[in-house]
Amino acid sequence: MTTHLPDGSTLAFGAATAAYQIEGAHTEDGRGPSIWDTFALKPGATRDGRDGSVACDSYHRYEEDLDLVAGLNAGWYRFSIAWPRIIPAGTGAVETRGLDYYDRLVDAALARGVQPTATLYHWDLPQALEDRGGWLERSTAEAFADYAMVVHDRLGDRVDVWATHNEPWCAAYLGYAAGIHAPGRKEGGAGHRAAHHLNLAHGLAAARLHEAGVTDLGIVHNLAPFWPETPEAAGAADELDAVRNRIWLDPLVDGAYDDELLRVAPELADPQLVRDGDLALVHGSADWLGVNYYTPFRPTLADPTLATHPEVEAYPGVTPVSFVVREPRTDIGWEVDDLGLEQLLVDTHKRTGLPIIVTENGAAYPDDTLVEGAAGHVVDDQDRIGYLRGHIAATERARAAGADVRGYIVWTLLDNFEWAEGYTKTFGVVHIDPQDLTRTPKASYHWLAEHIGSASS
Ligand code: FCB
Repeated sequence: MTTHLPDGSTLAFGAATAAYQIEGAHTEDGRGPSIWDTFALKPGATRDGRDGSVACDSYHRYEEDLDLVAGLNAGWYRFSIAWPRIIPAGTGAVETRGLDYYDRLVDAALARGVQPTATLYHWDLPQALEDRGGWLERSTAEAFADYAMVVHDRLGDRVDVWATHNEPWCAAYLGYAAGIHAPGRKEGGAGHRAAHHLNLAHGLAAARLHEAGVTDLGIVHNLAPFWPETPEAAGAADELDAVRNRIWLDPLVDGAYDDELLRVAPELADPQLVRDGDLALVHGSADWLGVNYYTPFRPTLADPTLATHPEVEAYPGVTPVSFVVREPRTDIGWEVDDLGLEQLLVDTHKRTGLPIIVTENGAAYPDDTLVEGAAGHVVDDQDRIGYLRGHIAATERARAAGADVRGYIVWTLLDNFEWAEGYTKTFGVVHIDPQDLTRTPKASYHWLAEHIGSASS
């Protein structure tokens, strides 16, 4: 069985998770603390005051979870590796038991005919590195490349499709500018510094992984369309696009940050930060691109009559804006519009020429409609089915329009720890009982299994 990037003859399907959101077992087998362990303990950091110490306990129940992936007829399982399990202090000693866990996970996926694709960083930075400055320090980028090689040395004989980062925009700007995510720092332009070091970390790791023979190396971004709500907001929308999208794609495609971005983010013109050769490392460093999409954004010039959107502080240097959010919305308040996904895929393929995988797409709904099913009460999440159906169709439209989109990976397999929202927002196609963590597939799981089965037959 090949585990290389899908060839695109038909749309491949998969399910995604992330280590901190599902694994639990936060002190087991030598795992060190991450910035999310620390951040989640701060009063008010998560909506329900809870953390990922138990989460879905997937560390122990991964076999059952992989059965669920296989039952979806999904060919791919996108998971992330917890850096603090592998190198608990961020640099230095390697924890073999952490590697053993992912070794078992990969074998268990392959044994079920499910192809594993690993993301090296889904936000759980070892706390020891944050204590030394975290993503504001160049040394963190260097440490990341070392960690990447340790993981590749162990899993590279069976995992072919790799991603360095998941949504580095969130790690940089929600983490260091808006303070909504770990490490919870609200330091405005520091977000730009963090973003550069995340770009650099990708570039350093990509060079070494390619050198070690990896041919399917990608990076996953939460690119977003910005649709100005009024003509006056067109300039601001372009600035937002620079900080959210071009900051990642321009170095990849052109090996440079563009002038508009440098105007909004003068930090990136500092030669001590962006050193000679940094962006050359990023240039051409990805073999594929992951796009995570949930919602479009509709900026207006800052409007005090609109409720403050939690993310406006995540765009330091940009003209002050508000975001208008139209109906329908999901339970997390994100507008539903699958046209955004179609446009994004077409535009991103034109811009980069890279094969694309929709590495995340899905929806939070309250899941309060229950029907009697074979396994007892089943969540009848017709709203989620509608969301998935619409966005899969949008992905197919983008393919028909010429975008080289190879796969669609649903976010997410299991209801889990949804970062600052704690356990209050459920995105899973499988329900998790909050008391005993019993897994029960929702109606959307059965719909998706059928859709995938019929699409691939
Ligand atoms: C993305 C994250 C993922 C999940 C979804 C809802 O930003 O990558 O972990 O939280 O949003």
